[in-house]
Amino acid sequence: GNGTALTGKRVVITAGPTREPIDPVRYISNHSSGKMGYALASAARAAGAHVVLVSGPVTLPAPAGVEVRGVLTAQDMLREASRAVDEGCDLFIATAAVADYRPENCAGDKIKKSSEAMSLSLVRNPDTLATIAGRTDAPFTVGFAAETADVERYATEKMQRKKLNMIVANDVSAPGLGFNSDNNAVTVFWPGGNESMGPDSKTNIARRLMAMIGDHLGEVAR
Ligand code: PMT
Repeated sequence: GNGTALTGKRVVITAGPTREPIDPVRYISNHSSGKMGYALASAARAAGAHVVLVSGPVTLPAPAGVEVRGVLTAQDMLREASRAVDEGCDLFIATAAVADYRPENCAGDKIKKSSEAMSLSLVRNPDTLATIAGRTDAPFTVGFAAETADVERYATEKMQRKKLNMIVANDVSAPGLGFNSDNNAVTVFWPGGNESMGPDSKTNIARRLMAMIGDHLGEVAR
């Protein structure tokens, strides 16, 4: 990477978990801390990009020079990410761990404890990454894949199905890597090859990823 590949480019990144309400005091979520997405936003900013970070609920400070737009649910994430892409976007990176399903109904009052068992009806959430990648004016699109087995097969299958330019696969089965940790190890796949990085800090992985994405952005005319 020549380090200036992102000068003036508009980058939109999703990060963190989503929260899907069950009732006024409960929700379904996951262990994403937002660290990977925030590190990528910092690295993109340092490489000269204009960065909008669409973030689920996390406890991280906004990276310097980055515009953070907070969201809660997967539906909010799709709406805010689409709005940010509408404003102009050369590169879209989805690091968020979005809930695939949400409760069909959010109870108006706190659900009371009564019978021994209860069930919750869930419905599919919209897929922000697939929606952005499927636009006729789609930016260069990079997805993440959190897998615990058959990482390469699932990641490349996801890249083709969602029409991505690149996919970053994390093996989240390794202890101390991936979700809610400071470190990560990834393999990046694109239609012409792959490259592994780490284990290393998310900060270093993010810098190397942004340099690599910058090189590919320069090569792919879209
Ligand atoms: O936040 P950290 O604690 O730093 O952890 C980082 C991470 C492990 C969460 C991150 O590196 C990561 O792997 N994010 C993707 C997590 C995931 O579960 O991916 P997935 O296989 O469910 O989804 C594949 C891709 O589609 C992802 O780019 C995801 O953002 C996107 N997606 C998925 C579902 C959905 N409804 N909308 C989406 O945009």
